[in-house]
Amino acid sequence: MQVHPEAPVQEPRPVQRSEIALDGVERRFGRRSTVVALRGLDLRVEAGEVLAVVGPSGCGKSTLLELVAGLQQPDAGSVSVTGATAYMPQRDLLLPWRDALGNAALALECQGLGRRDARERAGALFARFGLAEFERARPSELSGGMRQRVAFLRTLLPGRPVLLLDEPFGALDSITRTSMQGWLAGALAAEPRTVLLVTHDVEEAVLLADRVAVLSPRPGRVVAELDVRLARPRRRRDALGDPAFVELVRRALDVLAVGA
Ligand SMILES: Nc1ncnc2c1ncn2[C@@H]1O[C@H](COP(=O)(O)OP(=O)(O)O)[C@@H](O)[C@H]1O
Ligand SMILES: [Mg+2]
Repeated sequence: MQVHPEAPVQEPRPVQRSEIALDGVERRFGRRSTVVALRGLDLRVEAGEVLAVVGPSGCGKSTLLELVAGLQQPDAGSVSVTGATAYMPQRDLLLPWRDALGNAALALECQGLGRRDARERAGALFARFGLAEFERARPSELSGGMRQRVAFLRTLLPGRPVLLLDEPFGALDSITRTSMQGWLAGALAAEPRTVLLVTHDVEEAVLLADRVAVLSPRPGRVVAELDVRLARPRRRRDALGDPAFVELVRRALDVLAVGA
């Protein structure tokens, strides 16, 4: 690089390795772009960090994930992602005509792996995902929690470093949800990834995340960020009796109530 002799001497900037960075993001919908889903949204997720995004329904959480996944483009601002992403949409979207194994293997097949090899690799993890003996079951024969685990396995299998999870437990009853939260925390402890987790459940956010970003009502932007410095593993039943946990949940709820 040539430096102009009169150019001011620049202090070397500290290099921040950010896996996901959104700056001044705006996203509009509608015939005349009158529906502003997101505006002035700044967000960063560092490598290996679990960031939970909470916000009221319709504030643009799913839109945010689709922007990061590259399925949508911002109308203003920038979205940058380092590393390949695996995106788990809000609905599990399993193919009803494929069995559980075939669904779990789908992303591997899309990567070009042969069908038999893909099924074998997916099958090797079925027991660990609590799906043993359900390899041949159709989605309609699985419980909600099992369908979520199949969808989650499909998301994890290609080994992408960045996970984008849109309300992964939103459709589950509270007992299944609690066990799935514990299970996800265990999976991430065993194999850390950079995670952007969208949820409307503040307790879930604090339970799972290193940091929680709270969005405003539409147009969504980040109105608060909370660092969750609680020891892991965090179990829901223990957390509920931990004043530090309860205080974080309360702070997030306070912020959410401001715009309600
Ligand atoms: N494809 C679309 N066309 C028109 N409006 C959309 C589209 N996607 C989202 N919206 C609108 O943008 C806003 C945010 O939607 P969404 O990101 O799904 O919110 P959330 O996931 O937080 O519930 C909503 O008002 C929704 O109706
Ligand atoms: Mg959504």
